[in-house]
Amino acid sequence: MVNFCVQAAVLARLITKKRQDMDKKLEKAMNEQLSKEFYSAYLYVSMAAYFESENLAGFSHWMKMQAQEELLHAMKFFDFLNERSSKVILEAIDKPPYKFLSIDDVFKANLKHEQGVTGRINNLYATAQKVNDNATAIFLQWFINEQIEEEKNPVDILTKLKYVKDQPAGILILDKELAARPQPVLGPTAGNAA
Ligand code: FEO
Repeated sequence: MVNFCVQAAVLARLITKKRQDMDKKLEKAMNEQLSKEFYSAYLYVSMAAYFESENLAGFSHWMKMQAQEELLHAMKFFDFLNERSSKVILEAIDKPPYKFLSIDDVFKANLKHEQGVTGRINNLYATAQKVNDNATAIFLQWFINEQIEEEKNPVDILTKLKYVKDQPAGILILDKELAARPQPVLGPTAGNAA
């Protein structure tokens, strides 16, 4: 029995050793990004709450879908870190802003936030390359591509708002359009599915 336990422990160590250990600095940064993705969801729920208070159900729906997408982003990091046998450590999530001046103000904040996310993902990618962690670099490529859309979405909406110029009829048409945003479904990244 003792022999069997020793053999099982040795086997478990061998299996674990087969996986490439993640550089500690990179692992910490990946964990931070995991928590930041949860913050993104929190921020967009706060923006949805603003739209609810303005009786703009379509804008609110769009933000709720965006929040759901961020939760999927967070879980991609969660799954990848676990697949690499890295330790997942969740951090406290900051209180998001909740006072917004206008619809425009919300989407400008949305864009600014996503530009910050793009910068962080690019830094992570550079760190992964620096420590020759190809698996993590390939995983992050999915996010680099995703950030193109994440920045494009608020830019598109800001452009439409510019044409609408605060006219109620135009705002209501846009509200209806944004109400049609479907539930997010994310494609697979290298190293984890969906
Ligand atoms: Fe997870 Fe909006 O980027």
